[in-house]
Amino acid sequence: MRAPARFSSRARTVPPSATSAATEAARALAERGISVVALSEGEPDALTPPEIRRAAYEAIEAGYTKYPPLAGYPDLRQAIAEALHRRGVEYSADGIVVSCGAKQAILNTLLALVDAGDEVIIPTPAWVSYAAQVTLVGGKPVSVETRAEDGFILDPERLRAKITPRTVALVINSPCNPTGAVYAREQLEELATVALEHDLWIISDEIYSALTYADKAVSFAALGNEVARRTVLIDGASKTFAMTGWRVGWSICEPAAARVIVTMQGQTTSGAAAMAQRATLAALRMDRAAVDAMLDAYKRRRSYVLQRLERVPGITCSMPGGAFYVFPDVRELLGGYYGTQRVDSSQTLAELLLSEVGLAVVAGEAFVAPGYIRISFAASDDQIAEGCDRLERFVRALRPSLA
Ligand SMILES: Cc1ncc(COP(=O)(O)O)c(C=O)c1O
Repeated sequence: MRAPARFSSRARTVPPSATSAATEAARALAERGISVVALSEGEPDALTPPEIRRAAYEAIEAGYTKYPPLAGYPDLRQAIAEALHRRGVEYSADGIVVSCGAKQAILNTLLALVDAGDEVIIPTPAWVSYAAQVTLVGGKPVSVETRAEDGFILDPERLRAKITPRTVALVINSPCNPTGAVYAREQLEELATVALEHDLWIISDEIYSALTYADKAVSFAALGNEVARRTVLIDGASKTFAMTGWRVGWSICEPAAARVIVTMQGQTTSGAAAMAQRATLAALRMDRAAVDAMLDAYKRRRSYVLQRLERVPGITCSMPGGAFYVFPDVRELLGGYYGTQRVDSSQTLAELLLSEVGLAVVAGEAFVAPGYIRISFAASDDQIAEGCDRLERFVRALRPSLA
């Protein structure tokens, strides 16, 4: 008899994306006709602006239907270099590789830098895919906790304490998903000093850099040539231009590292779709009005959500400086009962919010931060208002014991 089909050990260790799972669960309920408010996905509610969509139609008609150059179209890479220049970052277009979303840009980077058993330091709370991708390439993700009382900013001494001879890279995500923390220049400089002392790569995920509400996001790569040489900057079109479905992101680094990244891409996806790249070029060239309008909407929604959360007993929330999430502390709610059901963790809280009041959020466990939930305010005003109503209704119904 033949042995049963076997999957790789990798397949058993890499978990599914928790944010996508929360959204899928919400979708499954909605398909059964149940009213669900999904504040779980990091996805702008707006449609991609019309001039970008038009550029894609035109590109298809103009024949952009064939394999694009492996690293991306030269004029797009040049436009990315120019956009970086406006942020005070100088990289040549040779260091830019356009990929299928920032997600692939990060995976390419890890494939290029990480050997089996190498350690990659990831400050938590962290976006769900960093640790999964490090595991996928055979590396070892090493968490280092950031604390709410420090504004979720990584303390350089805590970083230093996690470095071992096997450490090869540090991941920094500013503005951060899920906390919204934005690192100040001096904070980045302190971390860069530690990273350079230990000859680490810095994988700087700056996908939310255009979405800040007070101070502008400083790029790691703007800290001088020495730091820029050790940095792989990750960015993309998804969040800034409401282009999540187009799957265009990029990595930016020294040309020598970029060549390795291109090799990884050449053996996997061959890069982002031709017409999506042409649309991204139009996005980078259009005036800022559409992006500013989306940013204004996020800013208004951020204030609204914070003000609503303030009214909910047992929830405390800090003000995010960037991205489009709030990350409230719900620890005071734990131990309470909703009917006969005990809320024993933020994971249970998220599950009950979905099953009992039809509100999808992501549990902090997904970000290695139990005791918190992530609420996206990239949804429409109506959905956010309804979501806040449902959350408040649920929390007010909690009882301290099984009465
Ligand atoms: C921090 C962070 N990095 C990267 C990504 C991936 O973005 P993309 O759509 O460009 O793959 C996301 C998307 O949620 C994110 O939140």
